[in-house]
Amino acid sequence: SSNAMWGGRFAAGPDAIMEAINASISFDKRLYAQDIRGSRAHAAMLAAQGILTDSDAEAIREGLLTVLSEIEAGDFPFSTALEDIHMNVEARLKDLIGEPAGRLHTARSRNDQVATDFRLWVRDQCDAAGHSLDTLIRALLTRAEATADWVMPGFTHLQTAQPVTFGHHMMAYVEMFARDKGRFGDARRRMNESPLGAAALAGTGFPIDRFATAEALGFDRPMANSLDAVSDRDFALEFLSSASICAVHLSRLAEELVIWSSAQFRFVAMSDKWSTGSSIMPQKRNPDAAELLRAKIGRILGASVALFTVMKGLPLAYSKDMQEDKEQVFDAADTLMLALAAMTGMISDLTVNREKLEAAASNGFSTATDLADWLVREAGLPFREAHHVTGTLVALAEKKGVDLPDLTLAEMRSVHPAITDAVFGVLGVHNSVASRQSYGGTAPDQVRAQIARWKQALG
Ligand code: ARG
Repeated sequence: SSNAMWGGRFAAGPDAIMEAINASISFDKRLYAQDIRGSRAHAAMLAAQGILTDSDAEAIREGLLTVLSEIEAGDFPFSTALEDIHMNVEARLKDLIGEPAGRLHTARSRNDQVATDFRLWVRDQCDAAGHSLDTLIRALLTRAEATADWVMPGFTHLQTAQPVTFGHHMMAYVEMFARDKGRFGDARRRMNESPLGAAALAGTGFPIDRFATAEALGFDRPMANSLDAVSDRDFALEFLSSASICAVHLSRLAEELVIWSSAQFRFVAMSDKWSTGSSIMPQKRNPDAAELLRAKIGRILGASVALFTVMKGLPLAYSKDMQEDKEQVFDAADTLMLALAAMTGMISDLTVNREKLEAAASNGFSTATDLADWLVREAGLPFREAHHVTGTLVALAEKKGVDLPDLTLAEMRSVHPAITDAVFGVLGVHNSVASRQSYGGTAPDQVRAQIARWKQALG
């Protein structure tokens, strides 16, 4: 049999495979609440404009509420033959209220309907991501506050570079995640315009009020161009782009947790809650949550590439290709929320090994830059010469198998006579971090100032 919604010009129904490729109900049922909300706003507006009678609008309103409760109770007869959530809802409305149901689609198309539903859904996800990021940021701040003066090696090329503090390292991620939150907020602001009333593509001849439906749905205004309204998915791409950047930040932190919890580092220990054992090696304690988080980020990046690829060749206005937007965004959003929650848990339950961090910070000549800076400041050497002198001292210490502070003054003076006893004051890791007082630097005072600023900003 042919389709009840659009079957007028068709003699035969679709091939079974056609139905399988065409139907989206298996996934877009997730938009049911947005779809019903949009329909209620549309029907109310049609009545206010005199396009629908009040009694029809009232029947539609009540019918839609029944549909909503049926879906929420889990006893709604979803049908693949009815393709998508829009036609499933409308068909059920017809069962419930009869003829007035057929008037709901006046001055509307599934094209503006789906664009509206999906915008509402993605808008909620921007808010949810912002809230989850807030929670993660608070966990990082708590961590940073407790470790603002815990010295650790800072790395470049994953080689020991200069001492930093663990709190400073945590605060680096606070900055990243706060920018991520800002990106979701920016995306939300830009997407908050209503496509409803663009109809199929050209607008409608009915005297609708797009400002009224925009307001009823919490949009700032209607979209100004009907072709744009039904054919762009930049709001979804912007969500995926924001999610992708956030995902990369999450993945880098997860990677650090994996490295730091290894036997070779032992900077941190993951709590039992976020670890697993091995079925053969009894000693094992694997950071599976961090590894999976690192891996699942690939789904978010993949979703982003997939939707960009869907969109890049489409002429205006609507093409059915755009139905492929939803599964990508749903999966990316679910993955992001899971990853944010897992990271928050891992950070909150982490044990940080202060002694290990400090011992590692002193290894690898991490205060060589402090020594070079001292030669510039106290002995008046040009930085390039100080760099060379320090390099010679590092080579000497390396040959003797000791750290820089373990060289004798005589040994140091054999490399450069301007060196005095006072140099030993800058070779310790605590003095090193305390001296990095430049704005944003690793000195515990600076780190604490940043923590205080963020705590105030978050309220
Ligand atoms: N299920 C469709 C989608 O998600 C709804 C819009 C269909 N419009 C159309 N003219 N076939 O894109």
